[in-house]
Amino acid sequence: MGYSQKQQPQLQLFQMIDYTKLKFVRLEPDTPLDSFRSIDDDLNAFLIEEAKDYQQELLSVTYLLYYGEQIVAYFSLLNDVIRLEDTEKRTRNRINRRIPFSKQRHHYAAAKIGRLAVDYRYACQGIGEFILNNICMMLLNENKLGCRFLTVDALSSATGFYESKGGFRFFTEQDAADDTRLMYFDLKDFG
Ligand SMILES: CC(C)(COP(=O)(O)OP(=O)(O)OC[C@H]1O[C@@H](n2cnc3c(N)ncnc32)[C@H](O)[C@@H]1OP(=O)(O)O)[C@@H](O)C(=O)NCCC(=O)NCCS
Repeated sequence: MGYSQKQQPQLQLFQMIDYTKLKFVRLEPDTPLDSFRSIDDDLNAFLIEEAKDYQQELLSVTYLLYYGEQIVAYFSLLNDVIRLEDTEKRTRNRINRRIPFSKQRHHYAAAKIGRLAVDYRYACQGIGEFILNNICMMLLNENKLGCRFLTVDALSSATGFYESKGGFRFFTEQDAADDTRLMYFDLKDFG
């Protein structure tokens, strides 16, 4: 997981999470954010310095996960589209095979996880997986706009998490050596 020597002892001090005490709250203009610390400085900076502006500009919406008074994780969502012409034939076929022939399209609506981070003091306790499940439930239950897929431009260090905990797949092997990799999950596979 790449935690620094300095962070490891603090991780071990934390007790297991009581999941009944976790609560999602949408980011508001006056929400205090300074206490949040994931292992990724860019993701910390996005939450603390940019998330409110992105939301104000309708570019993404951020949700915070609280454990009591503490922000233990956050994620940002935005709309996305899967353009089949941009994908490999193998991926195109895999996606289209799941959709009735008469409804197959060149583009499919998706929701994108723009950012996702768990506070390092609460990592590896299932919170990331809990969030992925809740995003799927939110999209399927609210169902306000057609949205078939969940996508993410995953940090290469986190692709294992999305594969094992979310069932995400890669669009292509061509980005295998890149810092980030495009991945998707078919919401019809949830549950
Ligand atoms: C990736 C992240 C969100 C996972 O959150 P988490 O709450 O620790 O994840 P969970 O506890 O639900 O799942 C942990 C499992 O995923 C795996 N995992 C977690 N992070 C991983 C990573 N970066 N790479 C590969 N596997 C990872 C662990 O091996 C663990 O597997 P196990 O339960 O079989 O032991 C969190 O580590 C984090 O915030 N990382 C820094 C920011 C980041 O990479 N965000 C993703 C940006 S695209």
